[in-house]
Amino acid sequence: MTWPEVEAHLAQGGGVILPTGSTEQHGPMGLIGTDAFCATAVAEAAADRCGALVAPTLALTPAPFNTAFPGTLSVSEPVFRALAGEVLAGLAAQGFGPIYVLNGHGANLAPLRAAIDALPGARIRLKSWWDFEPVNALRRDWYGDWEGMHATPSEVAITMATHRQVDPPEAARIPPRPLSGDYIRAHSGDRHGPPEAHRRDFPDGRVGSHSALATPEQGRALLDAAARAVAEDYAGFASA
Ligand code: NI
Repeated sequence: MTWPEVEAHLAQGGGVILPTGSTEQHGPMGLIGTDAFCATAVAEAAADRCGALVAPTLALTPAPFNTAFPGTLSVSEPVFRALAGEVLAGLAAQGFGPIYVLNGHGANLAPLRAAIDALPGARIRLKSWWDFEPVNALRRDWYGDWEGMHATPSEVAITMATHRQVDPPEAARIPPRPLSGDYIRAHSGDRHGPPEAHRRDFPDGRVGSHSALATPEQGRALLDAAARAVAEDYAGFASA
């Protein structure tokens, strides 16, 4: 967009969606940009429905546990919290309202909450694209426990629909080691250990997720369900 187009949008009381993702390995058939691609695709499809603008995706975020896998780029939590805080403050200062942060990476949640809490005067809402029941119904039906924690078939399916499909190597056609309930509870929000230990424990990068269950058709349906839910949630927040 040009700046006059943005100014016209603001004159109509326009809001914005800010996608947040990551740049980290997503297993042997998931693209490194998966979290950023998913958040961006859902944000753009939701924006078409609800009339928001989409801000540039914040794709460099904390993923320290994955840096032993080539291609992963991680910034520290304080750096990401500060960057997100300045971007949100800048959007609020220009009059964007509401500001809807659409997240695609678990480790972003704590620093984003801290950045938002530091801006009490701004109208900011934080959601992840998987927060909505219509999305989760599809994830449960198609993948059950094989959704897992990382390189999930749902996120891989979305990138198959939006970017490209990678044929899984033979070893990735079979399910990964299943996770225990204790493991999932202890590691929620991507609280994983040091990078070498993480790669040793999950050598192909999948964390309990059977990525090979993904199909592009499922990706299109997940994207559509998430975009509808986000647009509805955005509209409710905008009119509150
Ligand atoms: Ni991901």
